[in-house]
Amino acid sequence: MLCLGIESTSHTIGLGIVDDDGNILANERSTLTTESGGIHPRKALEHHHLFFGLLLEKVFDTAKVKPSDIDLIAFSKGPGLGGTLRVSAAAARALATKLNIPLIGVNHPIAHIEIAKLTSGFKDPVILYVSGANTQIISLAAGRYRVAGETLDIGIGNFLDAFGRYIGLGFPQGPKVEELASKSKTYIELPYTIKGIDFSFSGILTNLKRISSKYKPKLSKAKLGPAKQYVSLGKEDLCYSTQETVFAILTEAVERALAHLDKKELLVTGGVAANKRLGEMLNTMCKARGIKFHQVPRELSGDQGAMIAWLGILEHKAGRKQTLKQTEVDKNWRADEVDVIWT
Ligand code: ATP
Ligand code: FE2
Repeated sequence: MLCLGIESTSHTIGLGIVDDDGNILANERSTLTTESGGIHPRKALEHHHLFFGLLLEKVFDTAKVKPSDIDLIAFSKGPGLGGTLRVSAAAARALATKLNIPLIGVNHPIAHIEIAKLTSGFKDPVILYVSGANTQIISLAAGRYRVAGETLDIGIGNFLDAFGRYIGLGFPQGPKVEELASKSKTYIELPYTIKGIDFSFSGILTNLKRISSKYKPKLSKAKLGPAKQYVSLGKEDLCYSTQETVFAILTEAVERALAHLDKKELLVTGGVAANKRLGEMLNTMCKARGIKFHQVPRELSGDQGAMIAWLGILEHKAGRKQTLKQTEVDKNWRADEVDVIWT
């Protein structure tokens, strides 16, 4: 069985073809990027419209299959930006109708989880889901992915992007923060906010903005005044200190969750799971506790169509069917609202 998966919840339009053994035949995508600043939802919409046709051709070329070989269409039904979500919803409906095959709208966070489960082979992991809008510690209990702990304000990816934007980097800022961080070992203390298995980042962001504006005069060669203490700090040092602080918070929260839930496997997935330093910290903690650890492969960490196709296959094979009405997009659809009928 072959499934074509379509992803367009926010910055990325992605199409992937996956078979029911979990082989990824093709996974083509395009992400809207900027030189500086963030992304505008309307620009993302234009970008996705522009690239959809090209990617559709490319995904069939790469997979070496024809549209008539596809048995199922899956798309991200939510959560995400209303406008961009509708790009894949409309395309998926049109393709399913034209090919006369079933259509299924799937939950984006669960797709991030299931693709990592596929690559790990883990059966009952704790999942650290770290991406743009979401930062949650999740485990499967009584038929649903339950959130054990999560950010009390912004997602870690949005936090890294907002901080990166502030120091002049373009979207996506997360990977650029990682690169700059690798060039420093100078740590400055930042707020460390953790409450049990929940945590928050917005106070750290405010603090970073304050420090960065103190440090900006260095660039403009203005009089330094009270900023003297920060004068020797570079962007690299701020990035390094940021990563060390926020990833330590996540590692501590996950360690607590593993103990509470008494689980023996940890998965990290989502866009920020591409980060090497986060993987290192989690791995060190897992080794010390005798926990098996898996970091989703980099190419499957951010948004892409293969994860959508794979979840489509899991749900379809478990018997889930949706009426056309049920394939309407849902901007605020949480992972813990979905009955997990496939495990
Ligand atoms: P969500 O899954 O919550 O809806 P999303 O779909 O918008 O979020 P993803 O593609 O899953 O986003 O993740 C994108 C985020 O990952 C961005 O914030 C980006 O900066 C961040 N990111 C990507 N690579 C890295 C990296 N190497 N280090 C840190 N952050 C990264
Ligand atoms: Fe995502």
